[in-house]
Order: sequence, then C-alpha cells, then structure tokens
Amino acid sequence: MLGEVLEGLNIDATGRYVDATFGRGGHSRAILSSLSAEGRLLGLDRDPLAVAAGQGLAAEDSRFSMKYARFSQLEGVLAEQGWNRIDGVLLDVGVSSPQLDEAQRGFSFMRDGPLDMRMDPSQGPSAEQWLAKASEDEITEVLKTYGEERFGRRIARAVVETRETCPLQTTRQLVQLVETAQPVKEKHKHPATRTFQAIRIFINNELDELVMALRQSLSVLAPGGRLAVISFHSLEDRIVKRFFRDQAKGKPLPRGLPVTDDQLERGLKLVSKAVRASEAEINVNPRARSAVLRVAERLA
Ligand SMILES: C[S@@+](CC[C@H](N)C(=O)[O-])C[C@H]1O[C@@H](n2cnc3c(N)ncnc32)[C@H](O)[C@@H]1O
Repeated sequence: MLGEVLEGLNIDATGRYVDATFGRGGHSRAILSSLSAEGRLLGLDRDPLAVAAGQGLAAEDSRFSMKYARFSQLEGVLAEQGWNRIDGVLLDVGVSSPQLDEAQRGFSFMRDGPLDMRMDPSQGPSAEQWLAKASEDEITEVLKTYGEERFGRRIARAVVETRETCPLQTTRQLVQLVETAQPVKEKHKHPATRTFQAIRIFINNELDELVMALRQSLSVLAPGGRLAVISFHSLEDRIVKRFFRDQAKGKPLPRGLPVTDDQLERGLKLVSKAVRASEAEINVNPRARSAVLRVAERLA
C-alpha cells in the first residue's frame, strides 16, 4: 500500500517523518522519494536484521537515519534525536516478510525451524522457553485472547502433556500437536494459524506496544501531522479504530452539556475510512489481503 500510505501521510517535502516499522525499508524508500534535500526520515525497528538494513540505507542517504528501538519508545527516541514535533508517523505493524520467510526465526507454521518467534531475538523468552514453563491456564488464556482460538484449552493441555516426555523445540512439532488437538478444522485456514498468531503476539507484547505507540504518536505529532497505521488482523485493527474514534470524539462528557469544541480536547481528525489493498496488489503479494490502513490527522 505504498501509494495509499504516501497519500495518507500527505507528505510535506521539507518535513520530518518517522517510519516506526522499517522492516526492509519499502515504505521508507517511498517516503524518501517524496522528500526534498531538507526533508528528514527516521526509521525504527526492534529487529537487529532490519536495523542493519536501515543502517545500509542511512549510509547511502543522509536524509535518513536508523535507530534500534521499539516503537513504544518513540517519545524518548525523538527526544534523543532532538526532534520536537514531527509531520508524520507510519506504523506498519506485525511481522515482516523476511521474518516469516526465514525458518530460523520460528514465525512460520509453513517452515520447520526453532520455536523462537521473537522479533528481537536478544530480548525476552522465546516461544520455546515460554511453552516449556507456562501453565495450562496461562497458555489457554493466550490462545483465546490473542488467537481467538476456540480449542485453546485442548491445545494448551496437549502442550503440557507433550512436554512431560518431549520438549517442544520446533515449529513442526507445534504444528503437529495443534493438528492432533483440534477436533474440527476451519475451511481455508491452516489449523495452526491462530496458535502461531497468538503466541507471537504474546511473546512480542504486540498489542501493548501498539497502544503505547498510538498514544506517543499523538504527543509527538505537530498540528496537521498525520498518523498512518497498517494492521494485519482484527485485534490490531480494533485497537487502532477505537483509538482514532475516541480521539476524534474528544472527552466523554454528559450529553447536552454546553461545551465548546475546545473543551472536548479532540486529538485527531479522521482522514479516511479503512483502506484495503487493491486486487492488483493482492495478486502480487497475497499477504496484503488482510492489511487495513487507517489515517488520522493531529488537531491543534
Ligand atoms: C510489516 S513489517 C514492516 C515492513 C516495512 N513497512 C517495509 O516496507 O519493509 C513490520 C516491522 O516492524 C517491526 N516491529 C514490529 N513491532 C515493533 C515494535 N514494537 N517496535 C519496533 N519495530 C517493530 C518488525 O520487526 C518488522 O520489521
């Protein structure tokens, strides 16, 4: 959704922008191509491989710099950078294609690899370490909350029973366990989709990260600055949609109270409804099928 993101950000060629999810820099390159020599772009990513790719781009283009950081650290990173107010933030949340495609990262139920699933492999427990210790209740809760997996309890029980005799170390082992534990298969969905999504979101604390990034984006955007968020599943999109809606409505005050617009303290104005990838893009990149873009503008 390059064109849609550029249009949504309404790029000012001399402005300052943050691509908070650099990945391999597809969006960053597009933003840079809309900036003049005065414009600046800062890339962030929590994945050291993405950071290395970003440092390569920074070496080629002096308008760009790259930081190894989580997007929940946005305010602090900008303070270090000496940037007071910025003109736009892009959050393209979730996992990148290189993370999914590289079996060693452990994100994919299609490839056999170690059960890792950390976007930043130097931080926190891996999926393997967590599954080795978590209680049946804890695993059930994660599968239900972050995967909306109705057979969460059965899968959790199977994990706890299996690990007594054989440690769960690979993605293939987890896929086989889920296939066996699920009594009913969903049409057009790999049986392990929900389990992998849930564990990945939990291991990377993805939803809390998103909430923090949205709040901090609001505080660093200049009036008229744009916030563009691409999400890949309904849990993320619900958070973005509610945040945008609440900020566009302003303070919840009792009906009929005579208040001025100022007193409502609205933070954002909605720029567009949810935008989805075009058929043409989905044909080239089937993963874009679930992407939803929402854009809002910072009010004064
Ligand atoms: C969908 S990819 C972004 C792809 C990118 N827009 C591009 O054009 O290549 C998401 C990226 O965000 C990173 N990421 C996810 N959560 C993050 C977080 N909380 N803080 C920083 N980076 C994060 C991931 O490591 C991944 O590289």
